[in-house]
This record gives sequence, structure tokens and C-alpha cells, in this order.
Amino acid sequence: MNDCKGEWIVRLLETLRDMPYRVRFLLGKRPRVRMLYLEVTHRCNARCISCYTGAGREKDDVLTPDEKKSVVRQAKQMGARTVSLSGSGEPLLYPHIFELVDFIRLQDMQVVMFTNGTTIDRACADRLIARNVITYFKLFSLDPDTFDRMMGKTNAYEWVSHTYSCGDASKTVCLPSGLKHLLDAQGAAGVAGLVRAESLITKLNRRTLPDVAQLCKDLNLVLHLETPVCAGRAIENYADIALDSAEYESLYHELVAILGEEYFRELRAHPCPVERNPAVWTNGDIALCSSRPAHVGNVRQASLESLFHKAQMRKRQEDRRLPRSDGEGRHFRTCPARQYYRMRHGIRGDD
Ligand SMILES: C[S@@+](CC[C@H](N)C(=O)[O-])C[C@H]1O[C@@H](n2cnc3c(N)ncnc32)[C@H](O)[C@@H]1O
Ligand code: SF4
Repeated sequence: MNDCKGEWIVRLLETLRDMPYRVRFLLGKRPRVRMLYLEVTHRCNARCISCYTGAGREKDDVLTPDEKKSVVRQAKQMGARTVSLSGSGEPLLYPHIFELVDFIRLQDMQVVMFTNGTTIDRACADRLIARNVITYFKLFSLDPDTFDRMMGKTNAYEWVSHTYSCGDASKTVCLPSGLKHLLDAQGAAGVAGLVRAESLITKLNRRTLPDVAQLCKDLNLVLHLETPVCAGRAIENYADIALDSAEYESLYHELVAILGEEYFRELRAHPCPVERNPAVWTNGDIALCSSRPAHVGNVRQASLESLFHKAQMRKRQEDRRLPRSDGEGRHFRTCPARQYYRMRHGIRGDD
């Protein structure tokens, strides 16, 4: 009885604390939406040891292409100008991916895609570049063996050599063929900034990350660098993933020497955009971000706007209970989802 009363009082206090937000929302002062994070498929041809989604076979409840388009339209009406197409699996394995990209471009919205790049041949690279898709290519490592171990897959990529000029000298590196195709397609189109790299910091690839950083610096590629969210396979493989604080610190200093202090200041200063914008999972559930559920409903039953509002309220309440939610790790960027899963699994945050 007392527990019930306590819970009721906590709820009431939370409601009162959120009152200014509720009132602003009712008066039409809605949180500014800039992008939509839309997961397209659960299917994946890799089994990354760090994957928080546990991607693999397609689920049978994924939104249809028309349902996805309706979500895109609603997001545009809410102000979104960019759609981030991600998994929970590999977006380029989604059979309707280019139909969806074309639809988004027709809405005059920008597309961002995160891909493992295993299926990118020259034709696919040309299609992505022709549609101005900002493509983040997974670059766990430049060492094929480390890459394979990270991906849980043998011979995940064909590796090809790539020669580029660097100051007065020229350098040759081996790259996954998909990345090389993207770079060639971008060069042939005479554009810049569409091809980017993304990597996760784990124990397994840690020693090879300075080479990744150097390549990105040489080729002027934006590098999206993250520490792992400890969920899904990342928690199953925690021993191969987690760095202790001394390891994070020494890696940080190695990377600062290549990328500079400013890169990391920027990284820490900018919270992950997904948590401040609508995130829709493959089955249409609204989430708090790519990895954290909201439990507030599904776009098949309610409008994106009403669900996003409920999710933002839920997020405010959940984030208040986290030990630290200001988005700043000591060296790398952290986020409320990282804090949430650490708390849930009793893990220290050493980044
Ligand atoms: C789930 S993946 C789906 C897209 C694509 N298959 C890929 O790997 O890029 C989306 C993004 O989540 C990142 N990711 C996967 N597991 C993660 C984890 N445990 N913590 C943080 N990011 C993770 C991936 O590196 C990728 O940038
Ligand atoms: S991180 Fe991406 S490529 Fe790796 S298993 Fe998950 S969805 Fe697949």
C-alpha cells in the first residue's frame, strides 16, 4: 500500500516537473525536429561482436515500404530535413532501399546511411553518390583479420589497394572494395563530403584505430567514432569489447595526436542527434534512440508527432534517474543510452 502511494507521489512530482514542457507543447512550441532516424531492416549478413541490435534474420513485423513512406512524410511535416537510414540490420540488404531513398529525395530531404558496405559495388556506389546520400562506411580497422573478427565473419571484404597523394608523397593502403568504389564514385562525380567513415572503439580493434584515424585525416573523411553501447551482442562479448580507463586514456592521446584536440571537443560537445529526434524501429515502435525502447506506442496506431511527444516526456523522466546524462564522457562522447545500459548491467563508464 505504502509502495503504491510512494509511486503515485513520484508520478505526480514528475508530471508537475514536466508541466512547463507540456504547456509549451500544448501552446504549439514543440521541440524542433531536424531529422528522422528510421530503421529499415533487421536483416544482416554480419554478426558484429559489438552489435547492440543482434541483427540477423529479417523480422516478420517490419513496416511495409508504404508505412515507411508515411513516417517520412509525417517527419517532414514536423520539420525534419534529413532521414538517417540505418539498420537494426544492414540497410543495403533491404530490397526497397533505393525506392525509399528516391522517395525521401523527392520530399527534398537529405539521406544519411550507415552501412557495413559489404555489398557496395561500383554501380551501387554510383547510385548512392548520384542521390547525394551521405554514406558512413563501417571501418572497424584497416587490418583484414581484425575486421573479420569484429564482424564475426571470415573474408568479410575483398581488400583492394588504393593510392592517394599526401602532401608531396603518395601513399598506398589496402581498403575494403566497397569503400574504394565509393571514393572512386565520389571523385568521378566531382563532389566531396558524401563518403564518410564510422568506427567503434573496442578492445579488439583498439590498436588498429590510429591507422583508421590517419587514413581519414589523409583523405579528409569525416570520422564518426563511438564507444560501445553495452546492449545485445556487445554485452554478450563484453570481455572483447570493454576498455578500462587507462586503455581509453592512452588511445585518446594517440588519436588526439592525429585528429587534434578540436575533433574531440566537437565530438563531446555535440550530443547524439538521434535522441532529440524521432527514432522509429523496424516494427514501427517509437524509441528513445537507436538502442533504447520508449514503450509508448507504434506508428501503426498513432501519429508520429503524438508518439514523439510521449517519447520525449518518457525520456526526460528516465534520464533524470541516470547518474550522468549530460552527454560528456571524459575523453569520448557518451550519451544517456550508454549510461542506461551501464546502470542496468552494473558496468562502470570509463570512457
Ligand atoms: C546497428 S548498425 C546498422 C547499420 C549497418 N549495418 C552498420 O553496421 O553500419 C548502426 C550503427 O550502430 C553502430 N553500432 C552497432 N553496435 C553498437 C554498439 N554496441 N554501440 C554503439 N554503436 C553501435 C554501428 O557501428 C553503426 O554505426
Ligand atoms: S553493426 Fe551493422 S553490420 Fe554489424 S551486425 Fe549490427 S547491423 Fe550488422
